Amino acid sequence: MGAVISVERLAKTYENGVTALRGIDFNIQAGEKVVLLGHNGSGKSTLFRCMSQFEQPTEGQVFVEGVNLPSLNKRTLRTYRKQMGIVFQHFNLIYNLSVMQNVLFGAMGRTATFVQVLAPFATSQLREEAMDCLEQVGLAHLAGRRADALSGGQKQRVAIARMLMQRPSIILADEPIASLDPKAGKEIMALLTKIASNKGMTMICILHQLDAALEFGDRIIALKQGEKVLDAPVGKIDQRQLSWLYDIDEKEEGVS
Ligand SMILES: Nc1ncnc2c1ncn2[C@@H]1O[C@H](COP(=O)(O)OP(=O)(O)OP(=O)(O)O)[C@@H](O)[C@H]1O
Ligand SMILES: [Mg+2]
Repeated sequence: MGAVISVERLAKTYENGVTALRGIDFNIQAGEKVVLLGHNGSGKSTLFRCMSQFEQPTEGQVFVEGVNLPSLNKRTLRTYRKQMGIVFQHFNLIYNLSVMQNVLFGAMGRTATFVQVLAPFATSQLREEAMDCLEQVGLAHLAGRRADALSGGQKQRVAIARMLMQRPSIILADEPIASLDPKAGKEIMALLTKIASNKGMTMICILHQLDAALEFGDRIIALKQGEKVLDAPVGKIDQRQLSWLYDIDEKEEGVS
C-alpha cells in the first residue's frame, strides 16, 4: 500500500532569510503514529505548516494520498486539508461559547456552512454527531458548559472532539500536551493514540516529552537545525541518540 503522506526534498526559507527546513524526506504509512522531536526552533511547526500548506515550501513536494498539495488550486486544497485534523498546544477554542458549539464548528466546511453549525440552527443529526464525538473524549456531560469553565485537559478533549467532528484521516498534533500537567498530558496522549488506533487514523505528533514519545509513538522522526537527523522505529532508538539530539550546546536557531 502507498504512503498516506510523502514528503520529498522539502525546504523552507522564510522571507527574513532563516532556513527552517532543508531537504526533508519521509513516507508515512496509513495508521502509523509518528512523533516529531527536536529543539526549539528546529523546524517542527514549519514542517507541519508546509505539510498542511498553510505555509508554502520554498522547494520540494508534499503528497497526501498520492496528491501533490502544492499543485492544487485553493478549492481542491481545502478538500484535501479537511483530511487533516489539527490539534494545537493552546487548544484554539472559542471560549465564550459552549462545549457543544465548539465541537459543532468541526463540521464547518465538511457538511455545513458557518450558519448551519451555529447551535440554534444546527440539525439534530449534527448535534447527535457532536455528542458522539464528546462521548469519545469522555465529556458528553459537559456539552452545555462554557469552554472557559474547563480545565486544560478538558479543553484539549473538546479540541479533540472538534477535530473528530471534521472526520479527518490524519491527525497533526503540535505539542498537544505542552500546556498540561504530566497526568493530564499522559491522559491526552493515551486518548489521541486510542482514537487513532480505533479509527485507523494516521497520527503525527510534535512532542518535547521524551517519555511520552517513547510510550505513545511507533516511530520517531527528529529534526536538528532544519534537517532530519533521525528516523527510526521507537524500539530501535536508544538513550544515547536522544541525548545527542537534545545536546544543550547545540545552536538552537534555524540555519540562515
Ligand atoms: N513566520 C516565520 N518567519 C520567519 N521565521 C520563522 C517563522 N516561523 C518560524 N521561523 C523560524 O524558523 C525556525 C524554525 O521555527 P519552528 O517554529 O518551525 O520551530 P519548532 O521546532 O516548531 O520550535 P518550537 O519547539 O519552539 O515550537 C526558527 O528559527 C524560527 O525562528
Ligand atoms: Mg513549534
